[in-house]
Order: sequence, then C-alpha cells, then structure tokens
Amino acid sequence: MATIITIDGPSGAGKGTISRMLAKKLRFHYLDSGALYRLLGLAAVRHSVDMANQQDLSTLAGHMDIDFEASGDELKVLLEGEDVSLELRTENTGALASQVASLPNVRAALLRRQQLFAKEPGLVADGRDMGTVVFPEAPLKIYLTASAEERAQRRYKELLAKGENVSLRALEEQVRSRDERDMSRDASPLIPAADAVQLDSSELSIQEVMDTVLNLVYLKGLATSVDH
Ligand code: C5P
Repeated sequence: MATIITIDGPSGAGKGTISRMLAKKLRFHYLDSGALYRLLGLAAVRHSVDMANQQDLSTLAGHMDIDFEASGDELKVLLEGEDVSLELRTENTGALASQVASLPNVRAALLRRQQLFAKEPGLVADGRDMGTVVFPEAPLKIYLTASAEERAQRRYKELLAKGENVSLRALEEQVRSRDERDMSRDASPLIPAADAVQLDSSELSIQEVMDTVLNLVYLKGLATSVDH
C-alpha cells in the first residue's frame, strides 16, 4: 500500500514548498489539492457557472478535464489542454477556490479524484483536510502554520519577485479573510487532525522545517528510498 504523508495548514504557511521538497526527497507522488479547487474556480468562470449553483459546480468538479505535467522542477497544470499554471496561482483564483471549496457537494465530488493520487511508493498530500477527511489513515500528518503577518509577508515577497505590483496591507486582508472562510465553513473546515504534529514555521527557515519533517518521517520509519 502507498505510504501517505499529509501536510495541512493555512495559505502561505509553506506547505507547497515543503510538500514538493519532501515528495522529491522520498521519491513520492505529490498532490496539490488546492490546485483542484483553484482549477474548479477557473473552470466555473470559463463556463459561466454561477458560484452559488452547487449542483452545476459539483458536476463540473467531477468532470473537468485537468492534467498535471512535470516540467523540470516545475509542475505544469492544464485545464482542458491549456497551460493555466500562472493564472492558477493568483490571489483572485485563490479566492474563487475558497468560495467553491465551502460547498459540501463540490468537496464530495473531488474526494475520489484526490484519493486516486495515492500510488506506490507513496504520496505527499498538501491541503486543508488531507489528514482529517481525504486520508484519515495516513501514518504521518503535519499541520504547518505561521502567523498571518508572516504569511502575508512571504506572499508579498513572492509576488514582488514575479514583478507583480501589490500592497502588503491588501494581502494581509486577503490572507485573513481566506483563513476566516476556510476555518469557519461547515464542510471540512481547516483544523488540525487530532493526531497531527503541529509545526509553526513563523521563525523557521525552509531548511529547518524540512529537517523537522524529515526527522518525523525517519522516526515513523516511512522513508523507503531517499534522494540525497
Ligand atoms: O492551498 P491553496 O491556497 O492552493 O488552496 C486554495 C483554496 O482551496 C483554499 O483557500 C481552500 O479554500 C481550498 N482548499 C480546500 N481544501 C483543500 C485544499 C484547498 O478547501 N484540501
């Protein structure tokens, strides 16, 4: 059976970076579950599906034509054959994702699609409910967090580096409102699984977080093949 490691937490805590590094190191597959919700948000806009129409959104969630393609160290994301990797990462798409993600039927429609990523030798699954709902049997669950200020700062630097002109104040506001929606929704709210190891990355470097996570992986005896 595939070994599953879940990494959940709020946006900007470093889940994506750590999950990708960990998957590479362990030679595991990687599930970016947020990308599925983001893709659904984009697909809904493209097909003019009303954001409040739960029925049509869940049908779209079950049938949308998506693909993930490795391209060097990057992961190319395709929607209906078109590369949407850049559009996928904008704050606007994140907000759309968080809206569709609050609908229980949408989450149910995406559940199986996510579980299909569990393949040998293992999977690192990154999201909000990986440890609580999608892979509740995972032998290692991490809940990675950081203060809202630190997460907005990181996002700010990331966007500036990409040449995007953004205001730190506006980003802080977006981070807080997305957290609020993700944590307070009824369907699979963002909460640490009871058996998750909680890690606050506010004061830690990426390497320090990675070392801590790898120690947990070794302690649990989950590393079969490690890429040095
Ligand atoms: O992780 P990312 O920022 O790409 O996620 C975008 C949005 O998708 C989140 O704000 C959240 O509302 C939703 N999401 C979710 N469950 C997941 C992954 C993402 O509800 N497992």
